[in-house]
Amino acid sequence: MRKNIVAGNWKMHKTQKETVALIEEIFAKKPNTTTEIIVAPTFVNLSKAVEITNGKGITVAAQNMHQAEGGAFTGEIAASMLTDIGVTTVILGHSERRAYFHETDALLASKVDTALKHEMRIISCFGEELKDRQQNNHFNIVEYQLRDGLFHLEKKDWANIVLAYEPVWAIGTGETASPEQAQEIHAHIRSLIAAKYGQEVADEISILYGGSVKPDNAKEIFSQPDIDGGLIGGAALKIEDFSKIIEGFN
Ligand code: 13P
Repeated sequence: MRKNIVAGNWKMHKTQKETVALIEEIFAKKPNTTTEIIVAPTFVNLSKAVEITNGKGITVAAQNMHQAEGGAFTGEIAASMLTDIGVTTVILGHSERRAYFHETDALLASKVDTALKHEMRIISCFGEELKDRQQNNHFNIVEYQLRDGLFHLEKKDWANIVLAYEPVWAIGTGETASPEQAQEIHAHIRSLIAAKYGQEVADEISILYGGSVKPDNAKEIFSQPDIDGGLIGGAALKIEDFSKIIEGFN
């Protein structure tokens, strides 16, 4: 059975004090649920987040990592540094990393390989831009992104992959893919996995939707058969919103 996941990508928000406060609020409001709750604070607050969540039912993820094992890469973070402090889940390929830091599918493929070598779980993000959707090219775009970023993997590697479909035009814009649009492309994504790796792998993989998920649309989005949760940006920063989104699965 694939897992339902609600993950908060905190991006470049929250000081350490605010990080602790929000995690404590999530614990206080968290329903008794089988849905996995993930928070991804900034690098400097990961240690603290691990310390206060340890073993208590909230997973801490990093927002990025470098593909090299270590070396002269000023400002970067290696996989071993994350696992050393107890962070074993990493978000890779977010559209903001692709757009502002020029991350390509080829680069992401090598980050994925490094993360897997360190036995990390990857939340692998991808999704089309507005122009692709307008040209009805979104099915092709996600296919190329999967092919170039992930389809070099072996079948066994997929146990450590979570997919996050995030249409760029819906991120931080208040514009959401309709539940039908999201379901349509999630089903397509799952069919691509099935064609490449078999139905069993496809059935097991959690595919999250990201892009302006809010308390008032979460339930309908999460009720779609091929949507297994959400990767939440803005609404993950406010406890009232995030806790209501988590309840979207109840
Ligand atoms: P918003 O929920 O703010 O649109 O951001 C989505 C996102 O980028 C999650 O990674």
